[in-house]
Amino acid sequence: MPEIEPFGAEFFGSGGYGRWLALAEQVLAEAPRAQAYSGATPESLAELLDGEICPERGIGMAALRQRLASITANSIQPWHPRTAAHLHTPVLLPALAAEAVLAALNQSMDSFDQAPAASVLEQKVLHWLCRLAGLPQAAGGTFTAGGTQSNYMGLLLARDHFLKREMGWDAREMGLPPDAGRMRFLCSEVAHFSVEKSAIQLGLGLRAVVKVPCDDGFRMRTEALRATIAALRAEGLWPAVVVATAGTTDFGSIDPLAEIAGIAKDEGLWLHVDAAYGGALLLTQKHAGRLAGVERADSVTMDFHKAFFQPISCSAFLLADERRFETIRVYADYLNTESREAEGIPDLVTRSVLTTRRFDALKLWVSLQVLGRARFGAMVEKLVMLAESAADWIDAHPALELLARPEFGAVVFRFRAGMNEEIPRVLFEQGRAVIGHTVVRGAPCMKLTLCNPVTEPADLHELLCAIVQCGEALTAAASVAD
Ligand SMILES: Cc1ncc(COP(=O)(O)O)c(C=O)c1O
Repeated sequence: MPEIEPFGAEFFGSGGYGRWLALAEQVLAEAPRAQAYSGATPESLAELLDGEICPERGIGMAALRQRLASITANSIQPWHPRTAAHLHTPVLLPALAAEAVLAALNQSMDSFDQAPAASVLEQKVLHWLCRLAGLPQAAGGTFTAGGTQSNYMGLLLARDHFLKREMGWDAREMGLPPDAGRMRFLCSEVAHFSVEKSAIQLGLGLRAVVKVPCDDGFRMRTEALRATIAALRAEGLWPAVVVATAGTTDFGSIDPLAEIAGIAKDEGLWLHVDAAYGGALLLTQKHAGRLAGVERADSVTMDFHKAFFQPISCSAFLLADERRFETIRVYADYLNTESREAEGIPDLVTRSVLTTRRFDALKLWVSLQVLGRARFGAMVEKLVMLAESAADWIDAHPALELLARPEFGAVVFRFRAGMNEEIPRVLFEQGRAVIGHTVVRGAPCMKLTLCNPVTEPADLHELLCAIVQCGEALTAAASVAD
């Protein structure tokens, strides 16, 4: 048997962090900055990363540094001004420090005896978020892995609440009733696909999701919402939830929350507001009013790994009446007992769909502490300004067509001559830019999603010039080929 190298302080223990953090710092300092992406293809990456996954003997620091460098060199650079495809933010540096601290501490939020200060701080951050959204005193929440999970939780609790209220049916105990398939979730035609994903996972199927048409600004039409509810009822179906989006993924558009809240109340529907993206506007004085009505929601999704500039993952699910977590409450003898909870020991596992859970609240708290509301808000306002500037430029350019005025940081447009799928692909393969593409009412379009508050309008105008040039070159090449 070959001798095993010793292990100890080098790999474990609070004294040894520095060496590894220094390695991380070196690798990051050496990461390429010139391009948004290297342009590497899946095949070339598979070849590059073709080493042994688990060598018999571990490699040293120098070799590790080299291997990590091949990853960073072929990663999307989220801080690059030409990275503008998705809700994919550059990371606030104080949050990065917090990420290292929370990973090192490795507190697990499922019990107080694994996360004492973390449990208390998380609750304080959540209560602050509930106040930011204007939710009632009785509100509470939980941190989640992302908007998808937060939306899922909203629909899960809404489903069970509906069954209890309308039919006296206890889904926690009994599962779903035989005619649960009549339940319907309403959302706009451009709501996030996690609504559909949730309906599948909640045992209701895709048919449970009913899309309500939007106006020209891609906001839910409220008269269409009323008509849809009435039509569903006439068919003997059960409209149970309306999901309003504050900041749609493609357009940043904000559904008319106050009007939708009124309809939800009149019709006895649960209102879930997906503010995964637009929730950041609440930090601004200038634009917070666009979310008026969110305070009347039954539940809210807010993502911090989008326009709050946090490292993935960092999101929250907020519930207007925290007693409604009751429907997912389960006790485990090894973790939490009712008697400990009655003593006032925080018992956060009962309000999450997860058990082991990260202390992501630390990142957000550190960021809020370091920046303060005013500077944080100014960063978010900058995203709105950048989108407006890009939209003006597009509007004024004869080769481009703007699909809607942006309400937040997303701008959807098309190259009038076509090539709207090809341009993003070619720019990506050349490593020149990472821009988005989407399909709007059947037509391929391009999209800029602006998440970088350090980008300047001039950077965007250069990017848009590169997009037009690429479109012209592709059109010329296609006409030669014809
Ligand atoms: C409006 C909206 N809701 C939900 C989500 C899902 O969030 P996540 O990717 O964090 O699961 C997204 C993602 O882009 C989104 O834009």
